[in-house]
Amino acid sequence: MGDYVWMDLKTGREFDVPIGAVVKLCDSGQIQVVDDEGNEHWIFPHNASHIKPMHPTSIHGVEDMIRLGDLNEAGILRNLLIRYREHLIYTYTGSILVAVNPYQLLPIYSPEQIRLYTNKKIGEMPPHIFAIADNCYYNMQRNNRDQCCIISGESGAGKTESTKLILQFLAAISGQHSWIEQQVLEANPILEAFGNAKTIRNDNSSRFGKYIDIHFNKRGAIEGAKIEQYLLEKSRVCRQAQDERNYHVFYCMLKGMTPEQKKKLGLGKATDYNYLAMGNCTTCDGRDDSKEYANIRSAMKVLMFTDTENWEISKLLAAILHMGNLRYEARMYDNLDACEVVRSASLITAASLLEVDPQDVMNCLTSRTIITRGETVSTPLSMEQALDVRDAFVKGIYGRLFVWIVEKINAAIYRPPSHELQSVRRSIGLLDIFGFENFTVNSFEQLCINFANENLQQFFVRHVFKLEQEEYNLENINWQHIEFTDNQDALDMIAIKPMNIISLIDEESKFPKGTDTTMLHKLNSQHKLNTNYIPPKNNHETQFGINHFAGVVYYETKGFLEKNRDTLHGDIIQLVHSSKNKFIKQIFQADVAMGAETRKRSPTLSSQFKRSLELLMRTLSGCQPFFVRCIKPNEYKKPMLFDRELCVRQLRYSGMMETIRIRRAGYPIRYSFVEFVDRYRVLMPGVKPAYKQGDLRGTCQRIAEAVLGKDDDWQIGKTKIFLKDHHDMLLEIERDKAITDKVILIQKVVRGFKDRSNFLKVRHSALMIQRYWRGHNCRKNYGAMRIGFLRLQALYRSRKLHTQYHMARRRIIEFQARCRGCLVRRAFRHRLWAVFTIQAYARGMIARRLYKRLKGEYHRRLEAEKLRLAEEERLRKEMSAKKAKEEAEKKHQVRLAQLAREDAEREVKEKEEARQKKELLDKMEKARNEPVNDSDMVDKMFGFLGTTSSLPGQEGQAPNGFEDLERAQKELEEEDLDAALPLPEEEEEDLSEYKFAKFAATYFQGTTTHTYIRRPLKQPLLYHEDEGDQLAALAVWITILRFMGDLPEPKYHTAMSDGSEKIPVMTKIYETLGKKTYKKELQALQGEGEVRICNLPSYGHKKNSVRHKLVSLTLKKKSKLTEEVTKRLHDGESTLQGNSMLEDRPTSNLEKLHFIIGNGILRPALRLEISAKSQLSFSVVPPTPSS
Ligand SMILES: Nc1ncnc2c1ncn2[C@@H]1O[C@H](COP(=O)(O)OP(=O)(O)O)[C@@H](O)[C@H]1O
Ligand SMILES: [Mg+2]
Repeated sequence: MGDYVWMDLKTGREFDVPIGAVVKLCDSGQIQVVDDEGNEHWIFPHNASHIKPMHPTSIHGVEDMIRLGDLNEAGILRNLLIRYREHLIYTYTGSILVAVNPYQLLPIYSPEQIRLYTNKKIGEMPPHIFAIADNCYYNMQRNNRDQCCIISGESGAGKTESTKLILQFLAAISGQHSWIEQQVLEANPILEAFGNAKTIRNDNSSRFGKYIDIHFNKRGAIEGAKIEQYLLEKSRVCRQAQDERNYHVFYCMLKGMTPEQKKKLGLGKATDYNYLAMGNCTTCDGRDDSKEYANIRSAMKVLMFTDTENWEISKLLAAILHMGNLRYEARMYDNLDACEVVRSASLITAASLLEVDPQDVMNCLTSRTIITRGETVSTPLSMEQALDVRDAFVKGIYGRLFVWIVEKINAAIYRPPSHELQSVRRSIGLLDIFGFENFTVNSFEQLCINFANENLQQFFVRHVFKLEQEEYNLENINWQHIEFTDNQDALDMIAIKPMNIISLIDEESKFPKGTDTTMLHKLNSQHKLNTNYIPPKNNHETQFGINHFAGVVYYETKGFLEKNRDTLHGDIIQLVHSSKNKFIKQIFQADVAMGAETRKRSPTLSSQFKRSLELLMRTLSGCQPFFVRCIKPNEYKKPMLFDRELCVRQLRYSGMMETIRIRRAGYPIRYSFVEFVDRYRVLMPGVKPAYKQGDLRGTCQRIAEAVLGKDDDWQIGKTKIFLKDHHDMLLEIERDKAITDKVILIQKVVRGFKDRSNFLKVRHSALMIQRYWRGHNCRKNYGAMRIGFLRLQALYRSRKLHTQYHMARRRIIEFQARCRGCLVRRAFRHRLWAVFTIQAYARGMIARRLYKRLKGEYHRRLEAEKLRLAEEERLRKEMSAKKAKEEAEKKHQVRLAQLAREDAEREVKEKEEARQKKELLDKMEKARNEPVNDSDMVDKMFGFLGTTSSLPGQEGQAPNGFEDLERAQKELEEEDLDAALPLPEEEEEDLSEYKFAKFAATYFQGTTTHTYIRRPLKQPLLYHEDEGDQLAALAVWITILRFMGDLPEPKYHTAMSDGSEKIPVMTKIYETLGKKTYKKELQALQGEGEVRICNLPSYGHKKNSVRHKLVSLTLKKKSKLTEEVTKRLHDGESTLQGNSMLEDRPTSNLEKLHFIIGNGILRPALRLEISAKSQLSFSVVPPTPSS
């Protein structure tokens, strides 16, 4: 798909050639192609031969068609087509320029372009008509040789335009804009006005051939020119086809002249004249005839046409128009067809313009004078003949007028070379001549034209072959065996060899009895065996054919001789001779000068033409030629329309295929070494690009030998390699294969690379996903497992802790029970002792009170007795003794009763007091149940007992009379303490690993072991970061020791009462928790501790104050402490017993426990410490870890 192919539809049409196409689809065996014209075709497998691959050079087109691989008509046509579509109208074929008429103004003729193309070699710039002109000019100067440029092509192909462009370019680059240059340029409008007409193919068709020879002086400036004209189409003056016009000058004149001038000439509108209105077309689009007329007039002025001459020309032109309007009437004279010219205004005007007698005109147009054997006989002419005579006359006038004008122009622009100048003067000739023609009916003119083209083709072929030879010679190539066929045979037959066609026609023309038929007979008999001659098929046929270089053309022999003779009847010449008009006489001068006889022998048209052609060919052969082949892309003067068959026809007629044939005969394919190496180095692995090569020739040779074989007919020149067609094909096929291989390789590698990188990317991605997925999975599993383990750990630990807790709880409960028991016992002992004491005192008091009462009673009774006795005495005096005794007794009894009453009252009073006391007690009892400091309560209750120094282990004085109690108490206490606590039953659990000794050895600080000591510690058992914890640990230890009774309680120190004793233990612990920095205190304490150990025996109670302060290390504000510590340090009094909370006063076991447990609760860091200490203290030496 996408390949370009040649598609040969094999229609069999003459001008049908394979068309380029691009493959669109190639599935299912069928191939769909779209050709260059955009038509779709399906090629079926059985038609596969209809397509063949296109050479790469044909695909996108080349500037020089010699380089086309497909060097054939199809290749050339397609190349022109694709370039034409891109507005590239110029293409080279070697040094031949092919110009396709764009039918639109392209922006490629600007002064800028002229500058760009100045002094450039062909091929250096894109193809252009300017390049040809430039090469002509510089070749002329460089080589000091005349140059010529042969511009050929069909009518409307652009020959005249190309000629003008070259002229323009030459004028531009030759420097000065001289008068003569201007004159040369201005010759064209005049020639075009008289020689050009509108035809169906070209609005400005030149109806004559011309050769302009431009002369340059030594410095390269235009010095003059000479114009040669060939074969003006005179018949156009009298006859035009539909939609065609007469020569421009008539219309211009009618449009451009002033009314007065027109009046003088008796002229009206174009449509008034038969000669102008015949084609039903008097105007031409894009042409302004009146403006043109002004141009013509000014050009004529430049070219030195005098006003008289101008007027005379106008008169003749007007006369022609009037002649065209003559009316004839048929007559019969002596049984002969005759006619008369109607005396009309036209006739009169025409005659007056020609300055002849109208009657003479009438006569000579209707009769003919024949001189036979000295007698003049006048015979009438039939109407038809009469019209012919008139037309011939008119044509004669116009033809001669044209020749005269050309001569006039030449007179202005041509300077005959002086002898010394000849060597330095150089010229460039521009041949703008009609191309090969082949119409349905071809007459004598076509024969002349084709004969001229046959000549030009010969010239062209020889030139091309010469160029080829030159190239071969230049490249040192052996070309001897290269042969080519040219059109010499055809030329020989037409005009060179004896009895050639032209000479036979000429001969017959001069032969009085000669007719077209006799002429054809002679041609037949002479040439029927010639391959280039095609005789008529039968005797009735009037056509014969010639095989020209461009194809067979059949010529209609009717009118051949007449046309060839090209002579005017003697009567007409006579008429001209009689004219008073000098101008017409002047243009007919030659005819008039000739006698009637000589006129008959005067050169025929063909011989004239042949002569001028020979002259032209001679001129051309002395020049370096350039060829411009103009091609018209369509018949409709339309831009961007490309008629393939029309173009093929022109290509064929242009003879360009000859170049190709010559090339094919030699080595049609040639590459410069660089091109060759770069194109075919793929065929030899390891060959570097051309620019990296030293020996390009050798490399080319190696490649060619390897691919084409040593002996094959290819040659290697100095700069190029020369190949035959099949070599190129072979090379191309091989190259295609090699490139396909390489392409496949590249595709393979690229695809491999692409897929591999894709794969790597995918793999990498997959790995990444796997990695993350696995990681995720692992993490998930790990997380689950970790949670599992943590849960397991937690379970295990909780279980362990649970058992430990339960153990501890049970121990503590046991401990509590013991403690409570102990406390209860102690309290009981206290109470018992108190009870005893109270009892003792109460009994004492009761006894004393009783004693006092009894003693009072006794005294009172004694008093009463005494009173009775005294009274008895006194009464005896008064009365009888007996009576007195009785009376005294009576009174005595009253007094006793009084006493008894008084006693009863006192008893009631006492009872009341007792009751009140009891109430008070009850109240106190009630108050005791309330959350009150039990110590306070006890103190309150038993404050009267004095100090509590009588507690165990404390020296103190028992109240008088209670010493025994105290002693008894001591015994009780000892008994209680010494008894080992019954241990709670252990649960079955192997904790042998967790020996306390091991724990202690691992974790205890300093030299502390797991053995129980009854001494304060210097430092905590375990390490604590927080100083508060460290101090608390020490305090706890002392408290434990005290609790255990291993350390004495501090003596109650009233003087130190600062209210601290009133604060509950827990509050103190809370207060101290916030404190962090105890370092100094701790150091001080530790230092002291050491001192204290040395002075252990000498500690005294008077140091209470110090101890009090130290206790505050843990419990109180430090500001007070530091003073104390420093003071103490200064004093050297380091008799610290311990820094317990119990220092300043004795505390209850409850308080101690509170202190210990409170620390445990609030200082988590201390828990293990406390546990270890409890183990130590409770285990009774030696403690076992299991306890
Ligand atoms: N190079 C060109 N650029 C534009 N138009 C052109 C060119 N050549 C020819 N033509 C057009 O084609 C017409 C015919 O050209 P002309 O040279 O008169 O043809 P020829 O002389 O071959 O009969 C011109 O009138 C012009 O319109
Ligand atoms: Mg022309």
